[in-house]
Amino acid sequence: MDDQTSVILARYPRGHRDCLIPILQDIQDEFGYLSEPSVIEVGRYIDMPTGKIYGLATFYNQFRFEPRGRYHIRLCQGTSCHVTGAAGIVSELEKRLKISSGQTTRDGMFSVELVACMGACHLSPLIQVNENYHTRLKQGDIKEIVDSYLEGDE
Ligand code: FES
Repeated sequence: MDDQTSVILARYPRGHRDCLIPILQDIQDEFGYLSEPSVIEVGRYIDMPTGKIYGLATFYNQFRFEPRGRYHIRLCQGTSCHVTGAAGIVSELEKRLKISSGQTTRDGMFSVELVACMGACHLSPLIQVNENYHTRLKQGDIKEIVDSYLEGDE
């Protein structure tokens, strides 16, 4: 078991399955995703089969199972962003990057996460790429945004 996972697990009573979600949240906060060794370790600690943990974690839709990309894109799914076209932004991003939300591109450059209201509804729809915000987006803006990060990396 890696040290940081054991530190997190030690905050919770051994064998208590009802601690699963907070444990997974803590691990994701620490590492950015849930690695297979971490999930196995959690299963041992709370005495729950790994398959069941994956099933529950997938149901909650807030957990990642792959490391984040170099550029992590958070895409708001709140009401204002939804009304102003977030769905088109999601589909354009998924098409350009050839991944689904929650995944990371093969080259490790980009990952996409759908999030709740980011508190900037007057600027909707918007995405956050690492610490940068791109606001009042149109579907046609996505190619330029993705390209700008790729070019900045060369
Ligand atoms: S709904 Fe997107 S920032 Fe509030």
